[in-house]
Amino acid sequence: MAENDPTRWNERYEQGRDGWTLDGPPQILLSLIQSLSRGDPMRVIVPGAGVGHDALAWAQAGHEVVALDFAPAAVARLRERAAEAGLTIEAHVADVTNPGPALNDGLGGRFDLVWEQTCLCAITPELRGAYLAQARSWLTPDGSMLALLWNTGNEGGPPYDMPPELVERLMTGLFVIDKFAPVTGSNPNRREHLYWLRPEPT
Ligand SMILES: C[S@@+](CC[C@H](N)C(=O)[O-])C[C@H]1O[C@@H](n2cnc3c(N)ncnc32)[C@H](O)[C@@H]1O
Repeated sequence: MAENDPTRWNERYEQGRDGWTLDGPPQILLSLIQSLSRGDPMRVIVPGAGVGHDALAWAQAGHEVVALDFAPAAVARLRERAAEAGLTIEAHVADVTNPGPALNDGLGGRFDLVWEQTCLCAITPELRGAYLAQARSWLTPDGSMLALLWNTGNEGGPPYDMPPELVERLMTGLFVIDKFAPVTGSNPNRREHLYWLRPEPT
């Protein structure tokens, strides 16, 4: 797939070739939502949200959700599904590496949580730093990012392999990795890790 090209991603959604889309939110996310939904509702942003399984799951649990993806067909599907479910989700067609000043004004410093599943794995390698800097900018100082990242073991991409040593390098200066752990059960064919991240203090 061409680098950072929304057209190609969009075609995959339009043609039903979005093989990465699961049947629903992964079990690890449902468990996290259950454990994190005991206090006040949180403001959650979901970059690279695809057709929105995860965004819908957060909204279903009562959280305020913003979803971003640069494939219009995915965002349209997400909006339809939210409307069908009677859920309010603010969804934008946006490049998460450069959402633009107008959108950034509304997003900056506003979120308790960034949740991402295989968005960093999808980003063109040269733009990973820009994406992570954006993600950091969306968080409140006490906010955190939870990232479910594939460790495919394969060269090339997308999806790009995210072994722990690479993730550690990418996060340096931006996020502190509080912990990470292998995850099983979201899909038997995927080797993946969940990362608990918080913004590096400035
Ligand atoms: C592997 S898919 C994962 C989608 C969703 N998180 C899921 O788990 O089903 C990666 C998603 O990131 C989106 N994406 C890739 N690069 C992007 C960028 N620079 N800005 C916004 N979205 C992007 C793609 O359109 C696609 O929906």
